[in-house]
Amino acid sequence: MIIAQLSDLHVDGGERSRRRVERVVRELAGLRPAPDVVLVTGDIADHGAEAEYELARELVDLPAPVLYCPGNHDGRAAYRKVLLGEPASDAPVNRAHRVGGALFAMCDSSIPGQHDGLLEASTLGWLDAELTAAADLPAFVCFHHPPVVLGSPFADQSRQFATDRLASLVAAHPNVVALLCGHAHTPAATTFAGRPLLVAPGVVSTFRLPFEPADTIDQDLPPMLAYHLLDNQRRLTTHYRVVSA
Ligand SMILES: [Fe+2]
Ligand SMILES: [Fe+2]
Repeated sequence: MIIAQLSDLHVDGGERSRRRVERVVRELAGLRPAPDVVLVTGDIADHGAEAEYELARELVDLPAPVLYCPGNHDGRAAYRKVLLGEPASDAPVNRAHRVGGALFAMCDSSIPGQHDGLLEASTLGWLDAELTAAADLPAFVCFHHPPVVLGSPFADQSRQFATDRLASLVAAHPNVVALLCGHAHTPAATTFAGRPLLVAPGVVSTFRLPFEPADTIDQDLPPMLAYHLLDNQRRLTTHYRVVSA
């Protein structure tokens, strides 16, 4: 199974973000076979505006199912209305999808009006029920905010906090193959509760690390994406790819 992951599109109506999204979508559209699923782990819009979601939906036009979750730059009401075709509401946007014999739990780690993240009690309860109902399937827990310190101060200060219950939940569900997130605008791999925690790079920019000789937010590196390959033994292998012009 080929799982493509994009993150942090930050579509704002400007040419720069549009061109970078078009680049990664063109790359995905040229894959043979096509990926089984495409995940977009938050910060889809830059200001959470309806027009930004309309543009994002138009740009991310692929034959594969495209599954989204919100980030700190997203707005729940506009996201719901445009991406889901549902009445605007400020409740967390949590959706579970079964694709190709795997479960993708797209969780809302955003806190309206804040940049840091949290899985609300209702979201954790929902996630527990979804993982229980899909106990026989390989499962991916996806959200925007990394639940650990990554060594990237810009992302770390607005990471996901209060993660104890998430750790217990993951420990209780052996079918969780990996946790997939974004927000840190850097391709990174670590662990959480003993499972792989894979961070998708940002399409719009790359956050540099403190020991690198560059600005904190690098606008010049090309957009990147992640390919996660799941085999029949539920081994997951991740390849990070730079998308040239
Ligand atoms: Fe972002
Ligand atoms: Fe973010």
